[in-house]
Amino acid sequence: MDHLERKGPIPDSTMKIMENGGVIIEDGLIRDVGDFEKLHKEYKVPVEEIFTSSVLTPGFIDAHTHICYAGSRAKDYAQKIQGITYQEILARGGGIYSTVEKTRKSDYDTLKNETFKRVNQHFNSGITTMEIKSGYGLSLSDEIKMLEVINSINETSTPELLTTCLAAHVRPLEFNDNETYLDYIITDILPVIKERDLSRRVDIFIEENAFQPLESQKFLEKAQILGFSATVHADQFSRGGALVAAAVSATSADHLESSQDEDIRALVDKNVTAVVLPGASLGLAMDFAPARKILDAGACLAIASDWNPGSAPMGDLLIQSALLSNFEKLTFAETVAGITFRAAYALGIDDRGILRQGKLADMISFPSDDYREILYNQGMLKPDMIWKNGNLKIKKSQ
Ligand code: NIG
Ligand code: FE
Repeated sequence: MDHLERKGPIPDSTMKIMENGGVIIEDGLIRDVGDFEKLHKEYKVPVEEIFTSSVLTPGFIDAHTHICYAGSRAKDYAQKIQGITYQEILARGGGIYSTVEKTRKSDYDTLKNETFKRVNQHFNSGITTMEIKSGYGLSLSDEIKMLEVINSINETSTPELLTTCLAAHVRPLEFNDNETYLDYIITDILPVIKERDLSRRVDIFIEENAFQPLESQKFLEKAQILGFSATVHADQFSRGGALVAAAVSATSADHLESSQDEDIRALVDKNVTAVVLPGASLGLAMDFAPARKILDAGACLAIASDWNPGSAPMGDLLIQSALLSNFEKLTFAETVAGITFRAAYALGIDDRGILRQGKLADMISFPSDDYREILYNQGMLKPDMIWKNGNLKIKKSQ
């Protein structure tokens, strides 16, 4: 992933594939990458182990998940496969609302255990950094509970977790209008989050039956004044969100299944990273976001799992990325960039996602001698070794 374009298309021919490579790690960072023999002589370090027939890549980064939740939505899913839409289920007070009810009722330890299991499952698939949103609490105490759970897992778990406050997911039933609820988030919830440093990012679901573009823009501007960076659930079913993301120069605009040329252009012009979520398309049986078009327009494209109990229950980022690349005709380099360094940009960070001197030594290795096997196996070839901050944390026996 070294020396690839930050934005726009990436032909595979520009990708540097190093054979017989080695990596020198120091203090959790990559000190050097190069020819194995050359590095061995230069650094005179004892070789811990020689791995043959392994493809080493940066650890994957999942820039959009909702894996802190209680309960299951299997009942909704059974309705969905009969033809009732996600939007209808939500309008009937099910969907997100049913997860809110269960998450509010769940005690701290139970929520923590359930979330921890998902974090580990993700890490085991090579995700060394993941974002997790709140958004199933929708009250001061429950949003704080979710963010505390995520932060406390982050203290002990190996993968690094970044939190986002999604109190503006949907309006909770106790509030009668959106404006009052959005004001409540600004005046009552965000200051506590800021004071306790529980999150530095704010997200909002801009959609017909969630929040409207204009009120969302005002909300995001106020959150930015409080010092939060902005990200948006944009253009999933209807347009409006991407234009708001561009208007406030958000870090990322996520979903984009319904985006048109004008929306994509606005994101490119304002340097907003476009995050597509193939797992939500698979979960809802909807078209994928126009990832090829987004890249060709010159955007920075990341791919994330959106793992959540409703629209994206699968949660396997590699399977989803492999399927997206096939349907949308993305190159290998574009696809892997979308779950490594470009996903880092979606989170506003650039210290990882590339095997290069100075970057975090977050790395995964696949048991193969051909990197192309990774997408060819459509996500079923899993990494067998996973390093976080230079430490080999998982080594699976073959
Ligand atoms: O990204 N679209 C809104 N939010 C989530 C789904 C959350 C849920 O259904 O629980 C999403 O798809
Ligand atoms: Fe989402």
